[in-house]
Parts: sequence; structure tokens; C-alpha cells
Amino acid sequence: MIWTTEQRYRRIEEASAEELSELRAKVKGCKWRQTFHIQPETGLLNDPNGFSYFNGEYHLFYQWFPLGPVHGLKYWYHTKSKNLVHWENVGIGIAPTNEYDSHGCYSGSAIEHEGKLYLLYTGNSRDRNWIRHSYQCLAIMDQTGKIEKRKEPVIHHIPNGYTNHFRDPKVWKEGKTFFTVIGAQRENKTGCVVLYSSNDLINWKFEGEIKTNLGAFGYMWECPDYFELQGYGVLIFSPQGIEPYEDHYQNLYQSGYIIGEKLDVERLSLSHAPFQEIDRGFDFYAPQTMVDGNGRRILIGWMGMPEIEYPTDKSGWAHCLTLPRELTISDNKLIQKPVKELELLRKQQYEIKDVIDQEKKMYNGFIGTTFEMICDFENFDAKEFGVEFRVGDCEKTIIKYDSIQKKVILDRTFSGQPVAEEYGTVRKCFLDAAKVKFHLFVDTSSVEIFINDGEEVFTSRIFPQEDSKGIRFFAEGGKVLLHTTKWDFE
Ligand code: FRU
Repeated sequence: MIWTTEQRYRRIEEASAEELSELRAKVKGCKWRQTFHIQPETGLLNDPNGFSYFNGEYHLFYQWFPLGPVHGLKYWYHTKSKNLVHWENVGIGIAPTNEYDSHGCYSGSAIEHEGKLYLLYTGNSRDRNWIRHSYQCLAIMDQTGKIEKRKEPVIHHIPNGYTNHFRDPKVWKEGKTFFTVIGAQRENKTGCVVLYSSNDLINWKFEGEIKTNLGAFGYMWECPDYFELQGYGVLIFSPQGIEPYEDHYQNLYQSGYIIGEKLDVERLSLSHAPFQEIDRGFDFYAPQTMVDGNGRRILIGWMGMPEIEYPTDKSGWAHCLTLPRELTISDNKLIQKPVKELELLRKQQYEIKDVIDQEKKMYNGFIGTTFEMICDFENFDAKEFGVEFRVGDCEKTIIKYDSIQKKVILDRTFSGQPVAEEYGTVRKCFLDAAKVKFHLFVDTSSVEIFINDGEEVFTSRIFPQEDSKGIRFFAEGGKVLLHTTKWDFE
């Protein structure tokens, strides 16, 4: 179906109760609905927004177009949780209502101030000539959960030297001062991040552009996020327009980070190591982090890619968010671990220790469409070993280690309904290790695989048949010692 501009920019109130219930029913009937991931009731979800811990609860909003699986008029949809595992749908958090956000309440972030949660977001608007205008706006949520928008934007103008691609404020506080980074495009069509400061979250001062070594690195940097962890400064962003290089940058757009010394807010300098991708899978973009009550830095991303058709589109919805991951730093690298609370999902447990020697092996209980599984491989002389899951007559998804090339390889060539095949069906990354650990979270239509306790992560949607449930371990050209534990989910 081709969506016209009018259809894309329809407000949810313009849809009749009947249209909405039909859409809901269509979505409900989709065989790829997720079971333990945040997903939209209808329509399209993209970036996580306003991820925060406030008043004893986690709050997480997301970019939402309710009326179909396309990037249309964006709302902030609000969810909350006490444990990062079970999320409650609260409803629309911020709706486009005025001239500043008439064409979408775009991405942004949240911070607590004077007992309230301040939500800073980008108001996206288009004028009569369809020229984009971008404003940074504020909405404030009180203790009862009521959200009120401020009438006027808090940042009206785009500073000289930048185009209208100016969005996605991520706010933090240092001492008494609030800072926000904003993703921007220079007039010469290269991407960057700029910095503002404020004492009250209402009056903002343009500090300037953050100086990095990445002068010409893509045409736009979306969704920046700056934080400090273990004495380092980390700037996450999602650059657009990076060419593929060896195993890198294989997706349409990328998400990654630079890490180095803490940001010098006076000199606006960030000395840093080279850009590194956060995730090695097919579907990961625009992540956002927050610090929770226990001081943990937690990241959630959008499990999807812009401008790509997904098999669920036909059923009236698209995309979900990733599981929350706790971040730490080791060797100038972000380490990502699924948050401990996810253990709450574990039910029946199965465990196997075995040697796999040039063969494929299946075990009792090792079957399913939604589960968690940890596979430890050691003492290997096999050239390749790994596991196939969601295996059916003609389907399988493979995660394996190639010990000759020293690479972890995710292969979704035979995962089921194809997605974005023009970007390839295999993803790889280098890993030199004597022991290899794959930690999988498999949902109805996705997989997140944490490699060697979070050194790398592969996040991907897959669209297999419901009866593709098999799990097979394998080794080729030698043997490997396997120790694996699997948990069925509730
Ligand atoms: C990233 C992004 C943001 C923007 C939002 C709109 O996916 O393009 O830059 O604020 O999505 O939905």
C-alpha cells in the first residue's frame, strides 16, 4: 500500500473507533507479535524516548505513529515499569498539537527537576512549502503522571551554520547546570553534535559544536547521547551516510559511539578513540541510555531500521524495542549485559554438557519459539561451531564461531520471511577468544545474542513460521565442548 501525505499526517482522533478496532484486530492476528518486548498496539514504533527513573518507576516513551506501519505523524507513547521486565502501557504521553510540533513530536529525553519529570523533545513542523522547521520543546510530567506541554519552544532557533536537521535533545545534569546535546547537520551536509546549557531547563544557551576527530563522518548524526562512566566520556550517536567497510557499517544507518576523556564543556573538546558500532546485528538504531536508582547505566535501542519494509507491515504494525542492557566499560569498549531483572522471565530450565564432534546434535527440551539460552563453548579444534535455532523444514537462524577467521557470524539467510536482503543476510564481527559464549534471547520474531558476556551483541528481527522451533548444536572440522542452559519463558 502506498501512503499519501494526508494519510501519514492523520491524527489518531481522526480515526473512527471502528477503524481503530479493525486495525487492532489485524495486528492481534499477526503471527509475529512479540511476547516479552515492548511493541506498539498498532502502527509503527521507532526510537526510545524519555527513558528515566522517576518516582520509583522506570518510564520509557517511544516514537509512535498509531495508524499504520509507516513513519507518519509521531506521538510519544508512554510505558512504565517497576522492574524493567514487565511494562505497563500508559497511553499517549505527548501529542502533536501546535504549530511547533504540527508534523511530529520527535525524539528527546527526560530528566527529573524539582520533583517533576522534564521531557525535552523536538517539535518537527513543515510549512506551506513543506520546508522543515525544528524546535526544541518541553513537556513536564508531575507525580501523578499528568503531562503538560509548554506553549513556546525552549530553543526556537537553529544556530548559524546548521540546516533544519537539528533534533533529538539528550539532557543531563552536572553540578547545578543542565546540558543537552542535539544531533545536527552542518550546512556543508556533514553530521555533528552541538551542546547547550541551562540553569532551569527553560532558558538554554548555545555553547557550540562538540569537537571530535570525525569531521566528515556521514551527513547527519541522529539521537546523540553523552554520559560519563567509570571516568570516561562516551558519546553515542546514530550517523547516516556511512559507507560499508569490511564487516562494518552493513546496515542502512549505523549506531555507535566514541569513547575517551570526559567532555571539556569549556573547550567543547572530546578526545576519543575511533568510532565503534554498538551492535553487530541487522536491526538496531537510535539507542538511549539512563541511570537508574542503583546507579546503573542502562541502554535500550530501537530494534528496527528506517526506510525498510518489514513482514509485519501487512498486519498493520512495525518494530519493537530491544531488551534493556546494562553498560560498563572495559578496554575502551562498551560492554553490554542484559539487565539482571530479565531472570524474572525464566521458567522451566534444561541443561546439557556434551562434546560435539563433526556433527549436529539436538537435546530434549531444547526447542521453542521464545526462550533464553546460554551456550558456552570451549576446548575447540573445530573450524566452525555454533547453534541453529528456530529450525523448521526449510528454516533456520545460525549463530556460529569461525575459529579460522576468528569471527562470530549471524546468518539469517534462511530465517523465514526475508527482510532488507539488499543489505545482505549475514553479519560478522571479529572475536579472538579461547572460549566463546552465546547468550540468546529469542522472542517470536527477534533474537538478541550477547557474545562473551557483552563484548559484542547481535540484535535482529527474524520472521520464521510458528512451527520452526528446533534447536541444533553443531561442530565442523573438529570438536568443541558444549555447556548449555536453556529457560522457557512465561
Ligand atoms: C531517528 C529519528 C530521529 C527523529 C525520529 C522521528 O530514528 O529519525 O532523528 O527524532 O526518528 O521519528
